[in-house]
Amino acid sequence: MSEKVYPVSKEWAERAHIDKALYEKMYQASIDDPESFWGEHGKRIDWFTPYTKVKNTLYGKDEVSIRWFEDGTTNAAHNCIDRHLETRGDQVAIIWEGDDPSESQKITYRELHDHVCRWANVLRNRNVEKGDRVTIYLPMIPEAAYAMLACARLGAIHSVVFGGFSPDSLAGRIEGCGSKTVITADEGLRGGRKVPLKANVDAAIARLPEGAVDHVVVVKRTGGDVAMEPGRDVYYNEAAEMVTADCPCEEMNAEDPLFILYTSGSTGSPKGVLHSTGGYLVYAAMTHQYVFDYHEGDIYWCTADVGWVTGHSYILYGPLANGATTLMFEGVPTYPSISRFWDVVDKHQVNIFYTAPTAIRSLMGAGEEPVKKTSRKSLRLLGSVGEPINPEAWEWYYKVVGDERCPIVDTWWQTETGGILITPLPGAIAQKPGSATLPFFGVKPVIVDAEGKELAGACEGNLCIADSWPGQMRTVFGDHERFIQTYFSTYPGKYFTGDGCRRDADGYYWITGRVDDVINVSGHRMGTAEVESALVAHPKVSEAAVVGYPHDIKGQGIYAYVTLMAGEEPSEALRKELVTWVRKEIGPIASPDLIQFAPGLPKTRSGKIMRRILRKIAEDEFGALGDTSTLAEPAVVDDLIENRQNRH
Ligand code: PRX
Repeated sequence: MSEKVYPVSKEWAERAHIDKALYEKMYQASIDDPESFWGEHGKRIDWFTPYTKVKNTLYGKDEVSIRWFEDGTTNAAHNCIDRHLETRGDQVAIIWEGDDPSESQKITYRELHDHVCRWANVLRNRNVEKGDRVTIYLPMIPEAAYAMLACARLGAIHSVVFGGFSPDSLAGRIEGCGSKTVITADEGLRGGRKVPLKANVDAAIARLPEGAVDHVVVVKRTGGDVAMEPGRDVYYNEAAEMVTADCPCEEMNAEDPLFILYTSGSTGSPKGVLHSTGGYLVYAAMTHQYVFDYHEGDIYWCTADVGWVTGHSYILYGPLANGATTLMFEGVPTYPSISRFWDVVDKHQVNIFYTAPTAIRSLMGAGEEPVKKTSRKSLRLLGSVGEPINPEAWEWYYKVVGDERCPIVDTWWQTETGGILITPLPGAIAQKPGSATLPFFGVKPVIVDAEGKELAGACEGNLCIADSWPGQMRTVFGDHERFIQTYFSTYPGKYFTGDGCRRDADGYYWITGRVDDVINVSGHRMGTAEVESALVAHPKVSEAAVVGYPHDIKGQGIYAYVTLMAGEEPSEALRKELVTWVRKEIGPIASPDLIQFAPGLPKTRSGKIMRRILRKIAEDEFGALGDTSTLAEPAVVDDLIENRQNRH
């Protein structure tokens, strides 16, 4: 690991909101007296009824309850739109850059207000009320932002499902939160290719019980021909003609839910992570301002999809709550050319750019020329999120993309955390390539060993957070017990992140990756159990075990061990068939990279699959298999090694 240090420049220490001395002072204050600290910073958003209580949180053994600003009332759409109208109604809120470079749009705060009100009225006409769930399955078009904010305006809870998920995955997420309304588009457009979103919604609904979904609102994106079910489906543009651009904001309690976002865990089906209104918005807005050192007038671009939490907190809620100009990009980094990101930076004069290591690594492969031929002079700050960034990619990002001028904020956080928890602040904290550095205000990281003992000083172990922060998830939708079990039972009294972590002698945190059965493929979280259950659903598969292995571009790849039903023969054709099958069952992001047909899997005498061994073989590190004496059939391992698919 690189231990190179990039100090904060004088210019940055002067221009940034937070310098080193202020960081240390504010951090200490936030830990010593969270009540006063957050009591003060909670005021950064508008409240209809101001709160008098700030923090009421309990990380108990049998009970976990998290409440922030609990007697205050507010509305997220009011904070992201209405409160800006007087001072910045004509300022651009959203710059939309289409898949095709000839298409872009600028939407002012006043126009955003009109669109969101119309959307809210269209939904209200379809009986959407406070507390109802609405599933949003849209591409990266401004309507995704309008629809989310319209839900927030009405007090409905949005559940955005990434457009790359299959009809099956979508069906599970619609059913899981019981949404009666689905918002989609005819087709999406990415890298010049069409994505059949409406057809996927139809297929998803066909899998649900009769009458599960009452309304499907369809945005015309490509104008492609899609089936419309009379009485259930309506084109948004037609429905919008019937409504006014005026819709008041519902008064929401700080703890009323804002959204659900499904995410993968070690076991079972994806969990509906539930975030509430007040604390989430305060935290998203504050981190957006300080981590990206956002200043009035900056053009800010986060390349994530709104289907992930990064899109929620750092394309939409954080930037808009701060009255920023946020760029939304429909396309992919390589279309129509591998310079696309930098062309867009120049076209819109982007100052702050936030992306994932996987994108950087894949662009790195094409060399410097496609970057260097663009100007990028407008860039001031670069950000990274979603997975550990290897020092080599960090250096390339810094030198080639940022011309050694822009600090890099390597932001560690999770769907569950709502916002960034560990990160450099660019005017305060010296960067070390590969380290997320130090905690944000109010965040108390602790590293524990396998027994839960807190480790001091320089150490390595499992990352927990000792106390609550306002952006934390409140529960798993509909299953509070699962929330407690998943996050608070491994190390009682602490929130367990599922990540491994090292702390160095300077107190810097280095995330080493997941320590549970979650793999991180191109910054997307995948439960190994989900891929396994998709595989065993195939009629020719008897058993499957899935592990992650190091992948040059994706960070981790998906390695599947598959045993076949009696009488079935392994073949290249079957391998392809299984990959296609998993894509169909879950979505392209779950495609196995390598499949190994195995006559048997290594199991203990009690029948438990020994994943440790499977991981080692997948990593091509079979010299260090460790103790195999508890295996029921040691010979199985020899076959696995001999036929391994990942050879260096
Ligand atoms: O393992 C960590 C990794 O991504 C996980 C969270 O994934 P998700 O909920 O999908 O949210 C991704 C976007 C916030 C974490 O448990 N991760 C995220 N950011 C980093 C990271 N690992 C290392 N460094 C990061 N900066």
